Amino acid sequence: MASVTLDRVGKRYPDGYRAVEDFSLTIEDGEFIVLVGPSGCGKSTTLRMIAGLETVTSGEIRIGERVVNDTPPKDRDIAMVFQSYALYPHMTIRQNLGFALRLRGLARDEINRRVDEVAELLEISATLDRRPGQLSGGQRQRVALGRAIVRKPSVFLFDEPLSNLDAKLRASMRTEIKLLHRRLGVTTIYVTHDQEEAMTLGDRIVVMSGGAIQQAGPPLDVYSNPSSELVATFIGLPKMNLFRGEISHGSGEWLFTEASDTTSPAPVTARLAPHPARSKGWQEGSTVTAGVRPHRLRLIDEPNRPEHGAFQGAVRSIDILGEEMDLMFDTASLPGAIARVRYRPGVRVGDQVLFRVEPEDVHVFGPQ
Ligand SMILES: Nc1ncnc2c1ncn2[C@@H]1O[C@H](COP(=O)(O)OP(=O)(O)OP(=O)(O)O)[C@@H](O)[C@H]1O
Ligand SMILES: [Mg+2]
Repeated sequence: MASVTLDRVGKRYPDGYRAVEDFSLTIEDGEFIVLVGPSGCGKSTTLRMIAGLETVTSGEIRIGERVVNDTPPKDRDIAMVFQSYALYPHMTIRQNLGFALRLRGLARDEINRRVDEVAELLEISATLDRRPGQLSGGQRQRVALGRAIVRKPSVFLFDEPLSNLDAKLRASMRTEIKLLHRRLGVTTIYVTHDQEEAMTLGDRIVVMSGGAIQQAGPPLDVYSNPSSELVATFIGLPKMNLFRGEISHGSGEWLFTEASDTTSPAPVTARLAPHPARSKGWQEGSTVTAGVRPHRLRLIDEPNRPEHGAFQGAVRSIDILGEEMDLMFDTASLPGAIARVRYRPGVRVGDQVLFRVEPEDVHVFGPQ
């Protein structure tokens, strides 16, 4: 097993495009790291550089103590699982699983023993004599996983391994990957653009954008303390609501007031909870963005209306999810704000609804 270190790693493609810049991160031995970010942000490029499938154009990659910039992929002691499975269609599942071991020159008995062991672990023993074309998508993905596991590498690299599966299968494979990691303890670097997958799988998540790290940390830290609007809106579903406005300081507390040039809808106002790390640079009249997660907007009734931190909206649409519902409404600066609230019968499109927000639930971004 091994740690993986990226030290100011950069990738400039031959056409001059800089896909990754100044990427520094240490992945501890046995850790499960998820690289997450929008399409084109450089996740696969980063992973492929670790695998040795792309050259590194600046900086250094180390696996354990060893600098591997010029080490060919087969000598890096890693195994990669791709979205496309990449199984050999003409080989049986047993041959697919044992292929890398045969190349390494292991004895037939040893190969069979290891293949049987992995097949049992992944519950695909019954498929060993069949070919990939005769398997379901989920079974094929298990074989792809098995092919990586059977090699007993120091590091697993996964590039969106579940995106070809339907939602239900994706969720159950996600759980299996998590259990496998717990069982095998192999250092894992997992790429996805799915924030939910990132949140549930990673010991730490690394949010990327434009080829650079935006924020790295345990999932809940990143979720609770996003360092930028970009991270705030990328992590968490439904997306965080972002209201534009300014802050003011009066009678011992900070307030946010939404920018508005009309009286209807009334601007959002909220009390803010100053925090040493968060309230740096706050000044009377600074223009900021206030972010509130949809789950943190509480539906309240008129008699309970607090002086600040309550605002009204007209319901534009309702999505009922069962126990909960999403109410969409417009504010002065945010058409299509969303509140996720407990299901309540009787709320109709066009109704005026009142929300409360607690100071500690308001994230302030800026002043810019
Ligand atoms: N061979 C190449 N030559 C030039 N540019 C490339 C090459 N491969 C990728 N890129 C560019 O580098 C950027 C990052 O690509 P990459 O595949 O790493 O993104 P990604 O984060 O994995 O995206 P996705 O979620 O869509 O898979 C993209 O803008 C892409 O167009
Ligand atoms: Mg990719």
